[in-house]
Amino acid sequence: MKEKLAIDGGKPMLKRADYKNWPIITSDDRKYVKEVLDSGIVCGGTAPQAKALETEWAKYMGMKHCLTTCSGTAALQMGLAAAGVGPGDEVITSAFTFLASASCALHQNAIPVFVDIDPRTYNLDATKLEAAITKRTKVIIPVHIQGLPADMDAIMKIARRHKLFVLEDAAQAHGATYKGKKVGTFGDAAEFSLNALKNLCGGEGGLFVTNNDDIVKKAGLVRCFGDEVDEVSHRRKYNASILGYMYRNQELPAALARGQLKHLDSNNARRIANANYLTKELGKIPGIIPPYCPPDCKHVYFMYNLRFDPVAAGVKCEPRRFRIAIEKALYKEGLQIGQWQTVPVPAQDLFQSRLGYGGTGYPWTVNEAKGIKYNYDVKRFPVAQMLCDTYTVVHGIHPPNGAALMKRIVAAFRKVFANIDASLAHADDEIYPGMDSKLYGAS
Ligand SMILES: Cc1ncc(COP(=O)(O)O)c(C=O)c1O
Repeated sequence: MKEKLAIDGGKPMLKRADYKNWPIITSDDRKYVKEVLDSGIVCGGTAPQAKALETEWAKYMGMKHCLTTCSGTAALQMGLAAAGVGPGDEVITSAFTFLASASCALHQNAIPVFVDIDPRTYNLDATKLEAAITKRTKVIIPVHIQGLPADMDAIMKIARRHKLFVLEDAAQAHGATYKGKKVGTFGDAAEFSLNALKNLCGGEGGLFVTNNDDIVKKAGLVRCFGDEVDEVSHRRKYNASILGYMYRNQELPAALARGQLKHLDSNNARRIANANYLTKELGKIPGIIPPYCPPDCKHVYFMYNLRFDPVAAGVKCEPRRFRIAIEKALYKEGLQIGQWQTVPVPAQDLFQSRLGYGGTGYPWTVNEAKGIKYNYDVKRFPVAQMLCDTYTVVHGIHPPNGAALMKRIVAAFRKVFANIDASLAHADDEIYPGMDSKLYGAS
């Protein structure tokens, strides 16, 4: 006999209490945070926790320089400013990412240009990259989406051929590797986020890395008002030599990130084990397409994405409607599940309405005055649109959650897929799947 779905009044398969929250706070976090409180030093350009975090992250990455920032978004803008991006320049990024990969270009008065994604990896499709390059292109921002490395060999080859700066957006991919090398080490510079959800958490914050002495110097100026610092005394000169912002990190987030860094690799290993189990088991259910990881990549599963395919499930239903129905049924079974990005980034109002700078159409107007057109019609990004129609995020794969929770998640999927027709009956119900934000240490 078929089990009654929770959406029809049956017993849910999971409770909120079955999920454990992220991040895991250890004695290392307490030790470093206590050091801050005991020292009385809470901020500053040469503050000890921020400096130590920079040294430790540079060592972890095997890179020459690291600057910690108040957010990943700030680190992205610092990278563009250091690369000399300004009005009229174009910055290329992926159509499926977080807004900041594109809005950082607008913050530098430059114009974001989007490239559609690969249908298997959901990363920027390198075969479509060259067609997006113009004589105005300055920077490419490949994003290692949800912890999976972008196709860096192909991207770097094209970038070098066109003499373009590459700023890796590794906000979601701490510790991920491509052909055995860590992401963030391929381009001219890279950014990581320390936001609470991320694999390396400081609450909020960011990390900027580069091997280039000139780039780190410029990025450092941008980080703190453009203000020069005396090399001997380390005192600020209160002379802004370029335009800068206030993008420094603080001691408490830096201390927390240091404690978390000690456990990054073991926590990533748990994410990978959880993800591999889900992929193996859910992949057996017709209609579920688990995430793909190319054999030469280490995916660190910041998020676990999967797609639904009604044809493979043997159901006659429009793909978007099918995803919505299954998502609702799973949510009612107690799963922490739901979409992250709901539309490709160029489809967001900011790009459609161009209201960023007070309705003036700036910075697009800089080039449109010369007859150059920008087209953010979402039809130009069919793969990103297909993904947004059909994917969902299965939350809770972070440690300390482990095999016991994963098994129950799989059982809930099996129950819903054994009752597909009953699930489809609720496609139009007003239910809004999503995760409890406390799952990721946020309120
Ligand atoms: C791909 C990507 N880039 C950039 C950022 C920006 O990072 P932050 O939130 O630390 O500013 C995020 C954060 O979610 C992200 O996911």
